[in-house]
Amino acid sequence: MTALKNDRFLRALLKQPVDVTPVWMMRQAGRYLPEYRASRAKAGDFMSLMQSPEFACEVTLQPLDRYPLDAAILFSDILTIPDAMGQGLYFETGEGPRFRKVIETAADVAALPVTDPDADLGYVMDAVRTIRSALNGRVPLIGFAGSPWTLATYMVEGGTSKDFRKIKAMMYDQPEVMHALLDKLAQSVTAYLNGQIRNGAQAVQIFDTWGGNLSSVAYLEFSLAYMKRIVDGLIREHDGRPVPVILFTKNGGLWLESMAGTGADALGLDWTCDIGDARRRVGDRVALQGNMDPSALYARPEMIRREVARILESYGHGEGHVFNLGHGITPQVDPANAGAFIEAVHELSAQYHTTA
Ligand code: CP3
Repeated sequence: MTALKNDRFLRALLKQPVDVTPVWMMRQAGRYLPEYRASRAKAGDFMSLMQSPEFACEVTLQPLDRYPLDAAILFSDILTIPDAMGQGLYFETGEGPRFRKVIETAADVAALPVTDPDADLGYVMDAVRTIRSALNGRVPLIGFAGSPWTLATYMVEGGTSKDFRKIKAMMYDQPEVMHALLDKLAQSVTAYLNGQIRNGAQAVQIFDTWGGNLSSVAYLEFSLAYMKRIVDGLIREHDGRPVPVILFTKNGGLWLESMAGTGADALGLDWTCDIGDARRRVGDRVALQGNMDPSALYARPEMIRREVARILESYGHGEGHVFNLGHGITPQVDPANAGAFIEAVHELSAQYHTTA
């Protein structure tokens, strides 16, 4: 394998010293970029875009060609797993993801297969290899999956939900059915992430978009416990290098200490917590990734710079910080403002890494 030319992202995740704070953006390949919209139009739609290894590679590299980002993220979606389980994923314009078949009963859960990445998700494995080879060591490649709880939410609700009525009814009324579903998902996600690692992903992130909607006790039982099982089952070293794991629970600020106890290397933070405070809470146990409000990118470049400076100052000196947004970049952001954000992180962070 080609040697990595820029490994500051992997170093920061492992709390090793870096020259400047590494930065990437969740959803960095997406609709705010005109070149992404052009590729999607060429592919026909989002599903065709992500299911073609060549197109997936093309759009993964687009933000890297524009900005000096410190990591690439596989272009795919968390809902590839429910799709491979037979639910029939499709996207309704303006309405987000939908499934042809929705999980409603204990029998539906019992009939669900555990997915095998090579047999059922070969297009993702191919995309990882294609992207890794095209990157040629420029920056590390991040693989990802959804958390079991977040995947279950889409599978039971049938799409994006406002009130989570069906999934919460299942959780409270039939906890054993809920656990059976989460167990199959945890097995599928573990095998999927290990497949991505074997094919070239150099770090992995688990996206728990909806764990933050649970009660404090339910989060530990229905979301965190399954993410811990995944972390326990992951390949942690490949090609002679550690493969860091990042856990991101949106609205997960309440549970940082418990998340830090899972064995993950880093925690992703949304913008609602103060990153300095989070650092004091987790101590030396994990690195932190985040956490600028994506809406700050609607402001003028000098105001974006001020927000970046504030977050860097809050984190303070030393290792263990990967800069990111607190959630995905939105389609309405001016690409020039994303550039100003990335530049500000690199320029303003050098002072926090000088070794005495
Ligand atoms: O970060 C990246 O650049 C990698 C690609 C990526 C996508 N989805 C591409 C995508 C990643 C990491 C995801 C994860 C994902 N997908 C999550 C977890 C992260 C989060 O945002 O909380 C979730 C919940 C999904 C499910 C999903 N996929 C939704 C709700 C939507 C529709 C929302 C929207 O923005 O329209 C998608 C579609 C999707 N996935 C798009 C992209 C770029 C937009 C599709 C398009 O081009 O129209």
